[in-house]
Amino acid sequence: MELLTVDTVCDYVASQLGSHPEAPLDCSKLQAQEVTGGNLNYAFAVRDAKGHAVFVKQAPDFIKVIGPAAQLTRERMRLEVQVYQEWVDKGAEMSRYIPRIWKFDEEAMAFIMEFLGSSQLLQQSLFQGEAQETLAKSLGECMAIMHSRTHCSKLDAGGRARLAASYENRLLRDIQLEYVFSKCYREDPRAAMLREDSGFMTEVENLKAIYNGQNQENLSLCHGDLHAGSVMVDGAASSVKIIDPEFAVFGPPGLDVGSLLSTYVLAYCFHSAQKHSCCSQILFAAQQIWEAYVEAMKAAGISSDLLGTIEVETLGFIGCEVARTALGLAFARSLRIEDTELKARAEARALELGATCIRRRSEGMAALRAAILEFDAKE
Ligand SMILES: Nc1ncnc2c1ncn2[C@@H]1O[C@H](COP(=O)(O)OP(=O)(O)OP(=O)(O)O)[C@@H](O)[C@H]1O
Ligand SMILES: [Mg+2]
Repeated sequence: MELLTVDTVCDYVASQLGSHPEAPLDCSKLQAQEVTGGNLNYAFAVRDAKGHAVFVKQAPDFIKVIGPAAQLTRERMRLEVQVYQEWVDKGAEMSRYIPRIWKFDEEAMAFIMEFLGSSQLLQQSLFQGEAQETLAKSLGECMAIMHSRTHCSKLDAGGRARLAASYENRLLRDIQLEYVFSKCYREDPRAAMLREDSGFMTEVENLKAIYNGQNQENLSLCHGDLHAGSVMVDGAASSVKIIDPEFAVFGPPGLDVGSLLSTYVLAYCFHSAQKHSCCSQILFAAQQIWEAYVEAMKAAGISSDLLGTIEVETLGFIGCEVARTALGLAFARSLRIEDTELKARAEARALELGATCIRRRSEGMAALRAAILEFDAKE
């Protein structure tokens, strides 16, 4: 199967959906546009004459933005589709938080999905200074459904073994191990102080081991890359949809909570450094996510002890994501401040904030409040 292009994707959609009884668009006259923004895969919006649309995503056997030199198995797409199915199988309520998949074509390693036309990435909203409370609560609840239904404490030995084997996801896990926990500290001159601090580097190694599944008593099926670039929101409809779970792992639930909260923290740093007025709204929304998550996890029977562990992990993973982004390894969520001096200062302060979250994570959310106070004090 060749890779799809804007010239071939319309015929492809017609061939896949033309005879579908509930096809969401009229396949007789279609137009396509490439959707840019993703790094790994090809994506297209395909529309009919009335504006009904679908989203098509195809995994090449390499990383799109690097090219064929960077080989990466196309099986990642099978896993992505499987995770969506797993979530719905485990909790029907999850269907409202994920886009509908119309067709998965294993031969092409492509899927055709509901087009979220009135949504935008949560990442965009946060950096525009919008953080709605209702969306935050939905996100907390959604993560709690994902994690509580697949938490190892709720599964028998067979269920745990199946999730561990199905979501080992070694290749993509190794990419995260390198890009979230290692590369930035090894190479960036701005990380010199951290690199030389063996106590700090031991803490990063500990978090890396936890990401890798070291704590066998606290594992859930996790999205695995749940920063705000993996969430699409429609403020007017109060709708939240989770996308792009190709990094899914049977791993520590705090990984997802920490990744999501890290974008709120980065957006806070971005706005606070520029004295924008939305800062308290962003922190409030972050707090709402955490509170809604805890409440729904408790209601689903996850013990207070486990929630204590998840809180500490969450702080660690917030710290890792904020630090690696401040060190330039996640451009889309970075502090894109025009004034270069202000930007450099804000990134240095964000790096410290991340390091504080990692070092003081045993204090839980209090560590985040302390790190934010430090960030603001260093202005
Ligand atoms: N169902 C959808 N409807 C409309 N737009 C979508 C939909 N799913 C994703 N998008 C848009 O397409 C972009 C790329 O999709 P996605 O993030 O899944 O691709 P990717 O190549 O796997 O990205 P990454 O490099 O983050 O792994 C998203 O950032 C989002 O803007
Ligand atoms: Mg992806």
